[in-house]
Amino acid sequence: MSTTLAFDVYGTLINTHGVTVALKDYVGERADDFSRLWREKQLEYSFRRGLMQNYQQFSVCTRQALDYACLFYKVSLTEEHKQRLMQEYRVLPAFQDVKDGLTRAQEAGFRMFAFSNGSTDAVEMLLQTAAIRHYFEGVVSVDSLKTFKPSPAVYCHFLRSTGSLGAEAWMISSNPFDVIGAVSAGMRAAWIQRSPEMIFDPWEIQPTLTLESLTHLAEQIKQ
Ligand code: 2OP
Repeated sequence: MSTTLAFDVYGTLINTHGVTVALKDYVGERADDFSRLWREKQLEYSFRRGLMQNYQQFSVCTRQALDYACLFYKVSLTEEHKQRLMQEYRVLPAFQDVKDGLTRAQEAGFRMFAFSNGSTDAVEMLLQTAAIRHYFEGVVSVDSLKTFKPSPAVYCHFLRSTGSLGAEAWMISSNPFDVIGAVSAGMRAAWIQRSPEMIFDPWEIQPTLTLESLTHLAEQIKQ
């Protein structure tokens, strides 16, 4: 049985801070900080909705987090401007190392899936826009379960829906909470630490492997 790779999407394959280009039109030099807060709140809202068992699609978390960031920075954006930013969020760019890393992993014979909090539609759109859809056998979304990462149920859902076993399946993610969630649920996990500034949560659960980019992923994961 060949090894299965579950690639996280937002923040791992796709750069959520790509939205700062459009944000600059509205918030100028605060675009980086605004984007960071927007992303942090988006994740916080997904965690809270998971705990509350009050699911709405990830795009709702994204939109409500945008509203929060506007309130925080006292920026009054029209509905049209917010729609534009939400539209930008559907066509974000891939990180630079992604195509090379995915090509090598595909050549090495791994089974590859995108596995995300995003809905299937949103993830398909992102992967197609970034011209990386063809690397993946499929897209697995938490939307079928109506809860979010890092619930163990969603990692179990990934394994069942791809016919994989935890010992032979790797979560590939830049998001420490996702790496910890996957390992805690019995998967292997590679943490992609693209910058030395990125901190891994000092928990008792650590990544199986840490890499600076996706480029040498295939060589590092033994089949
Ligand atoms: C994703 O599931 C965690 O946002 C990240 O794509």
